Amino acid sequence: MLRTILTSNIEEAAGFIRSGEVVAFPTETVYGLGADALNAVAIQKLFQAKRRPSDNPMIVHVSDPSEIDGIGSNIPKSAIRLIEAFFPGPLTLVLTRDPRIPEVVSAGLTTVGVRMPDHPIAREFLRACGRPVVAPSANVSGRPSPTTWQSVFEDLDGRISCILKADPTRVGLESTVVDCSDEVPVVLRTGSITLGQLQSVEPGAVLGRPNDAAMGRSPGTRHRHYAPTASVVLIDHPSDMAPDANAAYIGLAAHPDPESLVGYSVAADIESYARRLFEFFRECDRRGVETIYCQSVRREGLGAALMDRIHRAVER
Ligand code: TXA
Ligand code: MG
Repeated sequence: MLRTILTSNIEEAAGFIRSGEVVAFPTETVYGLGADALNAVAIQKLFQAKRRPSDNPMIVHVSDPSEIDGIGSNIPKSAIRLIEAFFPGPLTLVLTRDPRIPEVVSAGLTTVGVRMPDHPIAREFLRACGRPVVAPSANVSGRPSPTTWQSVFEDLDGRISCILKADPTRVGLESTVVDCSDEVPVVLRTGSITLGQLQSVEPGAVLGRPNDAAMGRSPGTRHRHYAPTASVVLIDHPSDMAPDANAAYIGLAAHPDPESLVGYSVAADIESYARRLFEFFRECDRRGVETIYCQSVRREGLGAALMDRIHRAVER
């Protein structure tokens, strides 16, 4: 069992990465679990801490676009345009992997995911690390991604060396993942950078379909994800809820009788619904809720990403 240091000192946290340890840090999407991308031993520790299936590739995080050359190779023009438009931001690009990046990073694939977070602490931390940093979400595999440092602590205390503490994350859902290793950019995971935004720069960009070859290349989309222990039920409106002694509700519309619920969250808009979802799942588990009812939203823009995450929690 490790002693997990909690700190707000960026330099202290970066020191652990430089000495081959595993460190959780904030980004604008969710908290990430970082390790030196060039150190196969550190990456092995990360897989163990997270109990991550070894066939699930990881995203390499950079503090500056100039570092992308050397992580990806033969970078296509479409990727360069997406980088210019959306980096730093909640977007991951899948590129052909440069031989300098160890195979374990991308679980043996010939490609690699790259992202530059839009978060001042994340970028200063990555700069201080002085090397590319792999970072899956900082949860134990299968649990909802953490949007607070306290949720990271709940999952990983004693399993990692350090947590870089900061505020709750702004977006609350993981980055949009776009495969740019072929001519047509394919969205492998929806996120807060929407298909419409991508198409405004790359009109040919498409959503991946479950049976596409590109989706097969994104094993993370196959694994059980984002699921609380409670069962999750999707409803159109809170008035559709069955009477239930141990239930919680999250959505945009108000519930007629919130007092009857063990957990309750009404969001003013889709952004705040998305920002709260994963922490709400975790709060419900802490309270022993049996069923979490989630109101469905239109699958447009951020709503598509929100519905994707809720669906994964329903199906598990
Ligand atoms: O917002 C985020 O992306 C967060 C923060 C910490 O940056 N990270 C994150 O990492 O969500 P993770 O490991 O939980 O999810 C990465 C996703 C998985 O679905 C994985 O399969 C996919 O990206 N992925 C990574 N590398 C890939 C590759 N070379 N080809 C296809 N899919 C890849
Ligand atoms: Mg994850």
